[in-house]
Amino acid sequence: MVMNNTFYIETMGCQMNKLDSELVAGQLQNLGYQPADNPTQAAVIIFNTCSVRQHAEDKVISKIGQFRRRHQQQKDLILAVIGCMAQRLGQDLLDSHQQVDIVCGPGQIHQLSKMIADIQNQRQRLLNLNDPAENENLENLDTSRQHHDSPLPFMAYVRVMRGCNNFCSYCIVPYVRGREHSRPIEHIVDECRQLTENGVKEITLLGQTVNSYKYQDNNQTFTLADVMKKIHDLPGLARIRFVTNYPRNFDERILHAMADLPKVCEYLHIPAQSGSDRILKAMNRHYTAAQYADLIQKARDIVPNITIAGDFIVGYCNEDDQDFNDTKALVQKIRYKNCFIFKYSPRPGTRADDKLADNVPDPIKRRRNTELLELQNQIACEDNQQLIGKSVEILVEGPSKKPHLNIPQNQLNLDDPVLQLTGRTPGDQIVVFNGTRKLIGQIINTKIEKASALTLFATYESP
Ligand code: 5AD
Ligand code: SF4
Repeated sequence: MVMNNTFYIETMGCQMNKLDSELVAGQLQNLGYQPADNPTQAAVIIFNTCSVRQHAEDKVISKIGQFRRRHQQQKDLILAVIGCMAQRLGQDLLDSHQQVDIVCGPGQIHQLSKMIADIQNQRQRLLNLNDPAENENLENLDTSRQHHDSPLPFMAYVRVMRGCNNFCSYCIVPYVRGREHSRPIEHIVDECRQLTENGVKEITLLGQTVNSYKYQDNNQTFTLADVMKKIHDLPGLARIRFVTNYPRNFDERILHAMADLPKVCEYLHIPAQSGSDRILKAMNRHYTAAQYADLIQKARDIVPNITIAGDFIVGYCNEDDQDFNDTKALVQKIRYKNCFIFKYSPRPGTRADDKLADNVPDPIKRRRNTELLELQNQIACEDNQQLIGKSVEILVEGPSKKPHLNIPQNQLNLDDPVLQLTGRTPGDQIVVFNGTRKLIGQIINTKIEKASALTLFATYESP
């Protein structure tokens, strides 16, 4: 049965979107709405969308399509499309999908509850897009955050900045999320304090280029390293992470903060996108593969146990076999912990789409994707073998989604039934082990018994 004051949010895309959905859910709950377990029970259905690749948009279009009938039958149903794709397509979404009631850009989601109320009062369809030059109006949404019932109450994302000024040729983000804007440091620290007072143990600081956080207060300039220093000693906080990093003008103080502050996790997600200087130039990335590799070497010199993760785009406009070989060489050189690999997807309005042909055929993109992934998996699998027999600290996140064949374990003399749990090391390695539900949310030690490219299999050691 549908209750009038229930909502359901489905989130696509990056961590920024996950955080936005959490804030929107908090805003609605403050107004008396209840979260529904599935869309069939909800009166308000929200899709928080991503535009970074065409595939992400296609999925949303198909999901929206499934609501055409129901929207005709259930007159009070409200369907809202928010986030990056809403911003990108704007009025077109309303024009081509009668069942969509609200289209709201990522910079306007602080007004979503008001828009929903407006529709409930007088049925109309609403469009609310952000001006990419204005990126300050969301501050209220972040600062009014309530740590209600996030799925993992001991982990939280905190935004330190929004938007991006880099304009990589392939990327839609600056167009949909607007220009870079760093939040006031005291707001970030207050938010982190509130979260830790409510039991949060791990905070991930978020920004599209988190390493370029810069906030000026009177005569002082604060950087990301300062944010980490300021939140480091909050009681209850055990871990600090930050994503995602841009490899140019990388502030070395961040590496020193990692080395010197025990709560800052030794994990750096820093996408290279390509290993070919020619392609990097065409992507407008402003660094060469050698400069990137030097930066990673510097990170390893300062933070010896650091793990590195990256993103790569294969099949970018004019990418030939030599370019792709350069990318493989970079992957071989860096020895990433893991890489996210994507096939180039032209985004309307970006410089690449305006000026260059998407001329690498899809089968070649697919083959390069598979080949790079195989290489990366082989490297990660080799490196992970060195962890066998070692004791690693993890924050236990919950039951493992995929059932793995794990080592049977009888050492646990705890009462509850044993189930397969997962957690992460400070270096962001996924660890699977058998344990009891009461370990969820705790930091414990496990001993690695077996390792694959993406998963470490372990036994429970001690709290
Ligand atoms: N096509 C494919 N992948 C893309 N990414 C960003 N834009 C595109 C695009 N047009 C990838 C980049 C980025 C990640 C979030 O998505 O690798 O780091
Ligand atoms: Fe996140 Fe970029 Fe996708 Fe927007 S377009 S949801 S910022 S990944």
